[in-house]
Amino acid sequence: MKRILVTGGAGFLGSHLCERLVESGHDVLCVDNYFTGSKSNIAHLLGNPRFELMRHDVTFPLYVEVDEIYNLACPASPIHYQHDPVQTTKTSVHGAINMLGLAKRLKARILQASTSEVYGDPEVHPQPESYWGRVNPIGVRSCYDEGKRCAETLFFDYWRQHRLPIKVVRIFNTYGPRMHPNDGRVVSNFIVQALRGQDITIYGDGSQTRSFCYVDDLIEAMQRMMATPEEITGPVNVGNPGEFSMLELAEKVIQLTASSSRLEFRPLPSDDPSQRQPDIGLARRVLNGWQPTVALDEGLDRTIAYFKKRLSV
Ligand SMILES: NC(=O)c1ccc[n+]([C@@H]2O[C@H](COP(=O)([O-])OP(=O)(O)OC[C@H]3O[C@@H](n4cnc5c(N)ncnc54)[C@H](O)[C@@H]3O)[C@@H](O)[C@H]2O)c1
Repeated sequence: MKRILVTGGAGFLGSHLCERLVESGHDVLCVDNYFTGSKSNIAHLLGNPRFELMRHDVTFPLYVEVDEIYNLACPASPIHYQHDPVQTTKTSVHGAINMLGLAKRLKARILQASTSEVYGDPEVHPQPESYWGRVNPIGVRSCYDEGKRCAETLFFDYWRQHRLPIKVVRIFNTYGPRMHPNDGRVVSNFIVQALRGQDITIYGDGSQTRSFCYVDDLIEAMQRMMATPEEITGPVNVGNPGEFSMLELAEKVIQLTASSSRLEFRPLPSDDPSQRQPDIGLARRVLNGWQPTVALDEGLDRTIAYFKKRLSV
């Protein structure tokens, strides 16, 4: 049994991680400022003596005693991270500094939830970890992309300078129950629009592709990463390499929800990458043969069931 801190624990991924860690018999301290997360995501854990919740903003120092830290705190969707871009960069950078400082004091393992956005609009497909990316440093997505890149830099300098046991995972698009219904992420957007019978918004011509990982597969990878030997620092890509165009995704969602929604095309936002697909060869090697197991149709079914309940449709 370990004492484990999860920052951003009341968010989409964080709540699933807290749940899984509590189920595995650990004591979990969930820290969140509820910017995009909510108490309802972890309400079912509140009565559990192994679970503790603390309202805290990671841009301020935190003094607690734990054995491991998963650092997930950061708004993840463009709508939310562009709402207050200065705060977004602060959350990534100051948050990393504060959590790394805490980990150093405690000699605790620390895992960073980094992102495929560190690759920017890539010229290489699929993206291996050795690719340095093509990121606009001054665009509207930069607060998130560069904030996450700087956080990775800090993690690796703590490793080189202090031998702090770090783990960095680069997460590719992940979806599932407890995604925020209005945050503009494509899977939740399409499902909510389909369930409400509204037109499904496609940016550009819909030929841009993404890969979608179901949340349970991702959480499994994060836990396996935390348990790797000390010399495995990452960065390690985690995601599902299956590639789908926005048009294909929209058609699947319409079919699975039996919706009468039609497609509505809008101009592509700036810096929107045309293709994004993980190379998960390294993850397979260092995470004991890990690979995604939940197919898109099955994951969409579970996510649709969640949104049906949440939207009461
Ligand atoms: N879901 C994905 O597809 C995806 C992809 C790449 C990376 N990630 C990363 O995974 C992490 C979790 O993402 P998510 O999809 O669960 O998003 P989310 O918005 O649901 O979760 C983020 C959580 O962090 C909290 N938070 C934000 N700023 C904070 C602060 N200053 N102090 C404390 N808490 C704060 C939010 O309230 C929220 O609960 C993020 O770091 C994100 O960048 C997610």
